[in-house]
Amino acid sequence: MNTSDMARFDTVDLIRAKRDGDALTDPQIDWLIRAYTAGQIADEQMSALAMAIFFNGLEPRELRRWTAAMIDTGERLNFASLGRPTADKHSTGGVGDKITLPLAPLVAACGVAVPQLSGRGLGHTGGTLDKLESIPGWQAALTNERMLAILDQIGAVICAAGTGLAPADKKLYALRDVTGTVESIPLIASSIMSKKIAEGTGALVLDVKVGSGAFMKTTEQAAELARTMVGLGTDAGVRTTALLTDMATPLGRTAGNALEVRESVEVLAGGGPADVVELTLALAREMLAGAGRGDIDPADVLASGKAMDVWRAMITAQSGDPDAALPVASHTEVVRADRDGYAQTLDALSVGLAAWRLGAGRARKEDPVQAGAGVEWHVRPGDAVRRGDPVFTLHTDTPVRFEPALADLADALTIGDELPAATPVVLARIG
Ligand code: URA
Repeated sequence: MNTSDMARFDTVDLIRAKRDGDALTDPQIDWLIRAYTAGQIADEQMSALAMAIFFNGLEPRELRRWTAAMIDTGERLNFASLGRPTADKHSTGGVGDKITLPLAPLVAACGVAVPQLSGRGLGHTGGTLDKLESIPGWQAALTNERMLAILDQIGAVICAAGTGLAPADKKLYALRDVTGTVESIPLIASSIMSKKIAEGTGALVLDVKVGSGAFMKTTEQAAELARTMVGLGTDAGVRTTALLTDMATPLGRTAGNALEVRESVEVLAGGGPADVVELTLALAREMLAGAGRGDIDPADVLASGKAMDVWRAMITAQSGDPDAALPVASHTEVVRADRDGYAQTLDALSVGLAAWRLGAGRARKEDPVQAGAGVEWHVRPGDAVRRGDPVFTLHTDTPVRFEPALADLADALTIGDELPAATPVVLARIG
């Protein structure tokens, strides 16, 4: 149905309704989303409406309809021909969050297909495609046919989400980004879930990050976002669960594209940082349970080396060379501890901003990223340090970037006398 076949409404009436706290009807929502996507509603009107939703929210019925209307603006993928269950993961974004890289091949090695449509990074959180593009030759863009073929042969694919999925979201997200309306739970939930439901996965686990390096700064906000998204997924027939996970501290030991690929390969080889391994296994267990394969222990499969085999095949299928040396930045700078003690806190946001300033991330979506740029941290909260020990190594191809990155890191690490209490990586499970 195109908009000329639909009931028509006055956009100003709809803006006034949301401004005054009233609910929109289903036909109003269907028309609004379709007309906006078709360019029949002005950006300033949609901005006003998004701001009204930011303040007054959407009722559960409105949110379900809003999400369904966004899905209906594009194509829906279908993996029924694979003859295997499918599961996917979505992270709300964090610093050093390279989990998709070891997770997708691990779950595939357990017999569940993983269609992982990913994005590029914007701001201080890195994007999965930027990380993989640091592997020489690797290509992010695939046709739907090629994606299905790789899923069939190898079991996992990580590629760019095509423009066909929920195009309403692409337009609306770009508008929200420049109108201060990103941080709204119903708008975030409908944005993420419209794409994930359209993608056609059977099971979905959401990694909802909490802390300084995340969208959601408190556990309460993160839990509300997680419950909202789990509700939307479940209502749409996708077996959906969520883990609330810590993003006060960055994940692992590195933030930056090639640096994170290296760390992910270490995990697939049976090593890697303990927190990355723990979260990879926790999310794998959720995906396997959602796909009806909760009897498989992903830790055994990781130890067997089968996930590494899938990784190599997956990279090769997208023209990447899994044996090629990863790019390294041409300049490094080391920061040393100024006292003895125990690392108390390592602030995720500061580390993410420093990696971004060093060239690992982009300010505008058309900016290039440096493959080798980023931050390595040599201590995590709880580690003992001695004055003069290296605590950070900064990597960049453009040394003029060291100064602003060093300023971001000035207070990122605190060192004290007492051993701090350990904080878990997984804070709660919802679903
Ligand atoms: N990621 C999305 O895809 N949408 C949002 O609204 C926020 C984060």
